[in-house]
Amino acid sequence: MRVMMTGGTGFAGSHTVRRYVEAGHEVRLLVRDRDKVRRIFDPQGIAIPEADVIEGDIADLASVERAMEGCDAVYHGAALVDMRRKMASRVLETNARGVANVVGHAVKRGLPRIVYVSSASIFFQPGSGPIHLDMEIQTGTTAYAKSKAQAEKVIRTLQETGAPIRVSYPTGIVGPDDPGLSDANEAVYIFFKQTGVTTSSGFQIVDVRDLADVHLRLLERDGGSARALAAGPMLDWASTYRILDEITGTRLWRFPLPGAPLRLLGRAGDVIKRFVYDFRFPLTRDAMEYATQWPGASGEIAARELDVTFRDARETYTDTVRWLYEAGHLEAHHVGKLAEDESAA
Ligand SMILES: NC(=O)c1ccc[n+]([C@@H]2O[C@H](COP(=O)([O-])OP(=O)(O)OC[C@H]3O[C@@H](n4cnc5c(N)ncnc54)[C@H](OP(=O)(O)O)[C@@H]3O)[C@@H](O)[C@H]2O)c1
Repeated sequence: MRVMMTGGTGFAGSHTVRRYVEAGHEVRLLVRDRDKVRRIFDPQGIAIPEADVIEGDIADLASVERAMEGCDAVYHGAALVDMRRKMASRVLETNARGVANVVGHAVKRGLPRIVYVSSASIFFQPGSGPIHLDMEIQTGTTAYAKSKAQAEKVIRTLQETGAPIRVSYPTGIVGPDDPGLSDANEAVYIFFKQTGVTTSSGFQIVDVRDLADVHLRLLERDGGSARALAAGPMLDWASTYRILDEITGTRLWRFPLPGAPLRLLGRAGDVIKRFVYDFRFPLTRDAMEYATQWPGASGEIAARELDVTFRDARETYTDTVRWLYEAGHLEAHHVGKLAEDESAA
């Protein structure tokens, strides 16, 4: 089928484009920068015809309509992810208009297959039990978290009218071949470049390639709406660092810190951001609550219902760290034996 896709030049989206093309589907990409499409897909040997690359913006309905012309299905993975206070209103507006324009227009056109990327974090509430799909939607504190929660409410309302929207709820997305350095991959990069803390809870990732498989199954399945929690293994922080040590043969610098001071730092960062609009401090209240109180989520139902396998974290981290090195984000001394493997190959 011919699938109109947003976010195809992003991390999850570019892997999903590759998976859809490998499965024999044609893709039509709505992008902000046509050249980025060439930079990402030419080296991978994926040829996307010029006519199927539409320059536009998810917040601009005219470009969305143009991109959807002649398509049988839609994948909406684009979102503005920016934690700076000065970007708050733009994040809220872009992500809300994106869902209204892309998913709303697909529903209006009566398209039978619509895939939307939400987030497992919309269900997160400190102190709750493991995440599951029947939990209430939480509002979050950053503009980004709020925008994902609001989008989810719009999606639910459309699903209630019978719209065939299939939603994935990923945990932190990690893996190789990231056109930027998206959130969870950046966290892995920070463990090597700066430091990490061993604290309460842990880090739950999903491999970007497994997420792309989830998106393929959601696209191809028959029937109406569907929901899939795309969650890989939940590892406590000590186990995460141990895997990173073992695959590189190095020892990452980390120190133990209880959750409470980290959450306090996150809140302090949010307060400063109210006054210093361009402040790039990575700790937010939301992020620190996720890092210290994440209750875990199970991908078991999605794996069974969609027939996908969420791979072992060791494989994901090995491929991710090797890629971080190959792409020039990390140096040989950071990645130890993974760099030696590369030079021997
Ligand atoms: N990363 C995670 O750990 C995580 C976890 C849970 C859920 N998610 C969700 O997964 C989806 C993909 O995330 P990601 O990490 O892959 O993000 P990403 O790498 O930052 O990609 C975002 C994509 O959205 C596009 N985009 C942003 N604003 C746009 C606009 N106004 N018009 C058109 N396109 C626009 C970007 O285009 P450019 O290439 O031009 O920048 C890029 O292709 C998002 O919906 C995100 O909320 C991510």
